[in-house]
Amino acid sequence: MAANGEWHCEKRAFSKIESFSQEKENNVTETGCLSIIVLGASGDLAKKKTFPALFNLYQQGFLQLNDVHIFGYSRTKLFDDELKERIRGYLPVGNKVSCNVSEFLQLIKYVSGAYDSREGFQELDKAISEHETSKKSTQGTCRRLFYLALPPSVYPQVCKMIKAYCTNQSDVGGWTRVVVEKPFGKDLASAEELSSQIGELFDEPQIYRIDHYLGKELVQNLLVLRFANRFFLPLWNRDNIANVQIVFREDFGTEGRGGYFDQYGIIRDIIQNHLLQVFCLVAMEKPVSTKPEHIRDEKVKVLQSVNPIVDEDVVLGQYRGYRDDPTVPDDSNTPTFATVILHIHNERWEGVPFILKAGKALNSRKAEIRVQFKDVPGDIFKCSKQGRNELVIRLQPSEAIYMKLTVKQPGLEMAATQSELDLSYRQRYQGIVIPEAYERLILDTIKGDQQHFVRRDELKAAWEIFTPLVQRIESGNLQAIEYEAGSRGPDEADQLLEKAGYVQTHGYIWIPPTL
Ligand code: BG6
Repeated sequence: MAANGEWHCEKRAFSKIESFSQEKENNVTETGCLSIIVLGASGDLAKKKTFPALFNLYQQGFLQLNDVHIFGYSRTKLFDDELKERIRGYLPVGNKVSCNVSEFLQLIKYVSGAYDSREGFQELDKAISEHETSKKSTQGTCRRLFYLALPPSVYPQVCKMIKAYCTNQSDVGGWTRVVVEKPFGKDLASAEELSSQIGELFDEPQIYRIDHYLGKELVQNLLVLRFANRFFLPLWNRDNIANVQIVFREDFGTEGRGGYFDQYGIIRDIIQNHLLQVFCLVAMEKPVSTKPEHIRDEKVKVLQSVNPIVDEDVVLGQYRGYRDDPTVPDDSNTPTFATVILHIHNERWEGVPFILKAGKALNSRKAEIRVQFKDVPGDIFKCSKQGRNELVIRLQPSEAIYMKLTVKQPGLEMAATQSELDLSYRQRYQGIVIPEAYERLILDTIKGDQQHFVRRDELKAAWEIFTPLVQRIESGNLQAIEYEAGSRGPDEADQLLEKAGYVQTHGYIWIPPTL
């Protein structure tokens, strides 16, 4: 009973979050028989992310036993039970919500087949149709969600097969949606080719390009923070902000994915997508409304206002030991670390450096946005000695928003010191479980909300910014500097930050509160 109570609370909290998200632009049905088809079901992404996310949604009542069925499809020959056993170990049990793993696993049916096999996809369609018939679905209310947990090289082929053999034929009111994951191409030309191939088969409202950073709680908070608070409106511009950093750090290396990573590098793996999406939300203008298309229009505009990246604004690094991976070429110049400064050519941001920094095998793991304000004019308290005001949005771990500011040191003496206003989520929102990014994004797909997905023109604009740079790296014009694994990265990156005007505060450290 208690567990049920908690479950209902969570569901209510979720609906509140959803309530401002969007008005429906079209009248597609959001109820009725739902089939979720995970292609690449025996692979890593499906096991580690997709199925656990579906399980969490199931536990919280967002997938109804009576309406939903989940289909796994991949090349591996497996019986239903073998797939279920593979998945079982990855399902997050043990949190507060009561769970029934076996009940969830009952929802899953497995079909094996090649990604270019007509028979395989016909078999899959048969299984889905049987489910729809068994639920006595009214014609035209069936919903089919295809989740491609697959390498992008097979997307066009698989999309062709889905379109030819598995599309919801009685589509009036029902729908077919396709979820795809990065990498979307390796540069502008390949991304555009992929977009055209998929675009010939499905309309843009059917295509959900996932960037899982858009599903993170604090990333989703950015628009509310910026546009629902009077505090920030007048300050958010070149008159007050000195520089912005968007940082991703991992304290482990490429670990077994060296061969894959070497073809992409940190710019394609993290900066061109995850950090650039965050950048858009920090820098864009206020959208006309919270409708997904209005928001995405503004993201495209700010991307189109970014100046071409110059070599002087880039520092690349590669950690020592990266090339020891037998799948990485001995002469690889692939960066595992990069600092790239973007400049926006518009009225709000002219002259403000946006520093995007990402690295693997560093001395800590965190992702954050750091907005540094300019010095106080006519400073009578020697504030610059204490350090500048900063607004820090800690995306992970220890989600928080804190504001570094100068206050009087408590006591008899009149001394100024640096402190913070701290909204630490774990402390402020005790008992609320922050949803996993994938969980939220799959739910959005079911609801038909594309706000937190990358639109085709956004993707194009993102590649327009980074393609010349990745090409210069690949032709050897820009070299990665070696850094020690477990360090801060190359010293040159810190020097670049200083050159860009970032002033580091010494002697102050934010400590996430412990409960
Ligand atoms: C993925 C990258 O997109 O994001 C990985 O390919 C990276 O290299 C991961 O480790 C980081 O995601 P998160 O959610 O752990 O910050």
